[in-house]
Amino acid sequence: MMSFVSFLVVSISGTLEIPPLFPPSFPSSKLLTTRQTLSPSISMDTKPNPQTSTQLRRSTRLTSKRIPTITRPSQPVPKNKTRDIEDCFSQDEADSVRAALLRWYDINQRELPWRRKHGCGCAGDAKERRAYEVWVSEVMLQQTRVATVVAYYNRWMQRWPTVHCLATASQEEVNEMWSGLGYYRRARYLLEGAKSIAKEGRFPRNATELRGVPGIGNYTAGAVASIAFNEAVPVVDGNVLRVISRLNAISSNPKDSSTVKHIWDLAGQLVDKSRPGDLNQALMELGATICMPKNPNCINCPVSDQCRALSLSRLETSTIKVTDFPPKVIKSKQRLEFAAVCVILVQNDSCENQKHVTENFYLLVKRPEKGLLAGLWEFPMVLVAERRTDMESRRKEMDEYLKNLKLDFGEEFNLVSREEVGEYLHIFSHIRLRMHVELMLLTTKGGLNQLENQGQDCQVVWKFVHDSTMESTGLTSGIRKVYNMTQEFRSKQMSTNTQEPKSKLKRMRS
Ligand SMILES: *[C@@H]1O[C@H](CO)[C@@H](O)[C@H](O)[C@H]1NC(C)=O
Ligand SMILES: *[C@@H]1O[C@H](CO)[C@@H](O)[C@H](O)[C@H]1NC(C)=O
Ligand SMILES: *[C@@H]1O[C@H](CO)[C@@H](O)[C@H](O)[C@H]1NC(C)=O
Ligand SMILES: *[C@@H]1O[C@H](CO)[C@@H](O)[C@H](O)[C@H]1NC(C)=O
Ligand SMILES: *[C@@H]1O[C@H](CO)[C@@H](O)[C@H](O)[C@H]1NC(C)=O
Ligand code: SF4
Repeated sequence: MMSFVSFLVVSISGTLEIPPLFPPSFPSSKLLTTRQTLSPSISMDTKPNPQTSTQLRRSTRLTSKRIPTITRPSQPVPKNKTRDIEDCFSQDEADSVRAALLRWYDINQRELPWRRKHGCGCAGDAKERRAYEVWVSEVMLQQTRVATVVAYYNRWMQRWPTVHCLATASQEEVNEMWSGLGYYRRARYLLEGAKSIAKEGRFPRNATELRGVPGIGNYTAGAVASIAFNEAVPVVDGNVLRVISRLNAISSNPKDSSTVKHIWDLAGQLVDKSRPGDLNQALMELGATICMPKNPNCINCPVSDQCRALSLSRLETSTIKVTDFPPKVIKSKQRLEFAAVCVILVQNDSCENQKHVTENFYLLVKRPEKGLLAGLWEFPMVLVAERRTDMESRRKEMDEYLKNLKLDFGEEFNLVSREEVGEYLHIFSHIRLRMHVELMLLTTKGGLNQLENQGQDCQVVWKFVHDSTMESTGLTSGIRKVYNMTQEFRSKQMSTNTQEPKSKLKRMRS
């Protein structure tokens, strides 16, 4: 009984509260400042997604809670340090990982054409040749399997044995040679880089300098500098990222730039001063042949004693697997939002050549010039809370929003009908927007011509668009869909309207 009474009260007072768009015009004292009602158009792409960060935070906490049970060499860590102590190598650890990797690499490295040494290895020419070979092989290997690359690499080196030879090649020749490897941008960068090096007259000899060559990034610079010129700089590719994530049981998002930076730092800690190239190749090789994404061969891994992911997985009652590192990035769930959309159709009746003509105009408002779908036109739309998606609440919010247009609806138009059209779910990258669409049919009292310029000066820019030009107006795809829905709704309505009188009569008689 109670709830029934309160329901009544609410619905009655709700009805009374709806600000009348028609017929008395808006009391100007009640005009809203527009920030809040305008926000739907702005907010769609800017709100941070709390879900992602909570999930990541949760998984970080989970691992860091369990890690302290492992005995680890102690290392003084500043109190204020935000990063977990577990994320760093101690000096001892780094030393033993390095030694184990080099020992393993010396025995197990694969014979690959770009690993052949030239002459005594100290002559300038030999080093440059090596640099060129490492560069070409690393670029080829970026998106392609080793087995495929070997044949391409050999053919390439036969044709262009030095960087100076390559610099004389044409883009067509290079593309032809690259044909089948895919990602032709890589070939273009190689050629551009070779031309730039040939122009300078010498091969850059450290990572900093190499990064200045077009097409050479952090990764290639590190590989060439460490392998060919013995510079103690790290290299982090996908393989190295995986190995280091597991060695340190790093549970932060591997796609975050802060995580990537951290892994570069750790790789830098491991780099061997006397054999940096071999150490880097050992890390990459370990990732490619032992510490693989799906089925790592931990039994035969040279650094299994130092691997935190492995120790975690071996704890009693542990549910952690080494393949939990690096963590899979959880795709954020899309947020569901709700909007009230009001399609305002104004009909203008006039007489032309003694014929009655009805013209249809739609009221469109312009999206802000910045942000999502900037500058496109849409029907008046306002975001509503989920609990305010009932018709009454939506209309109330819409009426408030329409006040921003500074258009005197009551003075200019007669209200013919205001009906619910339906719902449409529009999917953006992070948002599912459920639009509740209504159609407001108006007729003009004195034509639309005198209103033409009024919409320009408003905080919310608006205009009336003739229905014949709707298709060519820059509407958002969601709004196009809403437009189509409305058209369908109207044509259905017209066909039922012609039958309506009969059924009404029937009902009245019975
Ligand atoms: C953290 O501590 C170090 C030295 O212990 C200090 O230099 C640094 O400013 C501190 N950072 C913050 C954010 O407190
Ligand atoms: C890299 O090489 C350039 C040119 O030889 C030199 O000026 C620069 O100091 C070197 N940088 C490093 C970090 O060794
Ligand atoms: C580039 O490499 C350096 C080490 O050589 C590293 O500190 C830095 O984080 C890397 N930057 C990026 C964007 O990967
Ligand atoms: C609308 O109708 C009036 C006459 O009732 C006419 O003067 C006017 O040109 C028509 N068109 C527009 C866009 O107002
Ligand atoms: C709307 O309808 C037109 C014609 O009926 C069609 O070409 C267009 O693809 C539709 N647009 C959407 C978004 O459904
Ligand atoms: S022990 Fe296993 S998970 Fe750890 S580095 Fe070796 S192969 Fe990778």
